[in-house]
Amino acid sequence: MCGIVAYIGPREAYPVILKGLKRLEYRGYDSSGVALLNGDLNVYKKKGKVAELEEMLVGKDVHSNIGIGHTRWATHGEPNDRNAHPHISASGKLAMIHNGIIENYSQLKQDLLRKGYTFKSDTDTEVLLNFIEDIKENNECPLEEAVRIALKRIVGAYVIVLIDQEHPDTLITARKGSPLVIGIGKNEHFLASDASPIIEYTKEVVYVNDYELAIIKADELILKNLGNERQTPFITKLDMELAAIEKGGYDHFMLKEIFEQPQTIHDCLRGRLDAESGSITMSGVTKYAEQIKNANRIVMVACGTSWHAGLVAEYIFEELCRINVEVEYASEFRYRNPVINKGDVIIAISQSGETADTLVAIENAKSKGAIILGVVNVVGSSIARISDAGAYTHAGPEIGVASTKAFTAQLAVLTMIALKIGYEKGTLSQERYLQLVRELDAIPEKVSTVLLQAENIKKLAEKYKDASNCLYLGRGYNFPVALEGALKLKEISYIHAEGYPAAEMKHGPIALVDEALPVIFIATKDSYHEKVLSNMQEIKARKGKVIAIINEGDEQSIALADDVIVVPEADEILSPMLSCIPLQLLAYHIGLAKGFDVDKPRNLAKSVTVE
Ligand code: G6P
Repeated sequence: MCGIVAYIGPREAYPVILKGLKRLEYRGYDSSGVALLNGDLNVYKKKGKVAELEEMLVGKDVHSNIGIGHTRWATHGEPNDRNAHPHISASGKLAMIHNGIIENYSQLKQDLLRKGYTFKSDTDTEVLLNFIEDIKENNECPLEEAVRIALKRIVGAYVIVLIDQEHPDTLITARKGSPLVIGIGKNEHFLASDASPIIEYTKEVVYVNDYELAIIKADELILKNLGNERQTPFITKLDMELAAIEKGGYDHFMLKEIFEQPQTIHDCLRGRLDAESGSITMSGVTKYAEQIKNANRIVMVACGTSWHAGLVAEYIFEELCRINVEVEYASEFRYRNPVINKGDVIIAISQSGETADTLVAIENAKSKGAIILGVVNVVGSSIARISDAGAYTHAGPEIGVASTKAFTAQLAVLTMIALKIGYEKGTLSQERYLQLVRELDAIPEKVSTVLLQAENIKKLAEKYKDASNCLYLGRGYNFPVALEGALKLKEISYIHAEGYPAAEMKHGPIALVDEALPVIFIATKDSYHEKVLSNMQEIKARKGKVIAIINEGDEQSIALADDVIVVPEADEILSPMLSCIPLQLLAYHIGLAKGFDVDKPRNLAKSVTVE
């Protein structure tokens, strides 16, 4: 949520920053801006996408070797030019970008107003910047010192980056709660919210920790904590290729990511699942295997699509491991004083590894003695680092705002954990374990088969694109898939959609059914199939339009449904990894047919670093 980029070194800063902002646009795209120092402090900001800023700057003097840039997802103040970052301090000498929320900004603002400060924007960022400047002037101290003093009085989350007209050779940055990566080049430094703007220049990076502050010159990186003690920067090597963050011939990242799923699930299984020997190797999980086996309960904590992966995992863990599982929205869990006993196992599921609610929820649980396992996609992210152990999903960078490949990779990882624990615990027979291991190994190929349906799904999208509501129904393992299908449609096409357990439909949503309502059933052959067919009958009896995700040869569903999408058969535990894919494609094609920006749907952001 909000993307930040900064550069200092011998290159022209503007092109580096502009390219970086485009890569980070998934984090927010309601406005953007840059500040460049070249004797003067030049700040350019514009409502809308980064391309609009770029257009505005054609022909302008953007020469500079130091600069900061920002792409915004509005929190305080509507999206407009005025509220876009960077902000300039009262003296006009400092410029700052910020990702996060300053919770006590209102109190600080009152104090500053009393001192005669005026504000050009409605943002918490401008308040923090002037607060820093006020401290600097009152104490006649260096900017670094003023930042440190100010941050000790701040409640909230932030990454900030400042430049100072009087010190054009230095960037100052600090972090708490929002992500910050520093790329180390030859006599140059790159700063960004994630590694994607950095990757083509250097693979050596430092992930800044909470409560750390960096003073950065072209040839020097000084890292300190807020107590002013020097810290040794821990340099890690990025394991990411540029191709992974480019569209590679696809029209959209979302489509590319949907089509990558055979490979991403394969990557996720590779080196862990050996179908021949029947072994599952997950070192992070092995370390805590005894605690997981003996846990009284497992709590899955997540948001959005990752929460849906948690719901599928609830069914799987309860079935295979006979452990009580609860699935919690991180935003609720963190605030409602949940009962956490020592030895409880919390599984935090997150694509970005930066979602603020999930992060704080696990911090709280950890402090109460819970064991935290992270199922995270972004290597080195905050959730990955705070977890006691876990397993990366290895889906590669996911750039489309609506999550697709990360979801199936989460399901693959969670299934492997459940298989391993269930087998070792003895709640899963060897025969069933081996059968599931072999079936899981075959999933990537089956996903490829589902993708062959893309043209058929595109036609269905044309047929149903003008619906104003849609209902998604499923039972058992495919109930969370119904929720996920509805979420995908809402996110991408702005059609109101609801996911429901198919049987629960008669307690309310059935009132919506008429000839204009498309009802998408996940009706693959599982232990609920007969029941789902009855629910389909109930919809048909009320003239609803039925689109059914079915297995080949399911004549009963074919007879009932208006349209069908065929997916290969799989064990019901694994079927969500297949049945979710047509729903991703349906949402994509409907969004596209309606003319929307499917990679950057309105109001959304990919990495939600505010609560
Ligand atoms: C945002 C994204 C979703 C994602 C959710 C949780 O809402 O748009 O795609 O599922 O955050 O994010 P996480 O990175 O924690 O999985």
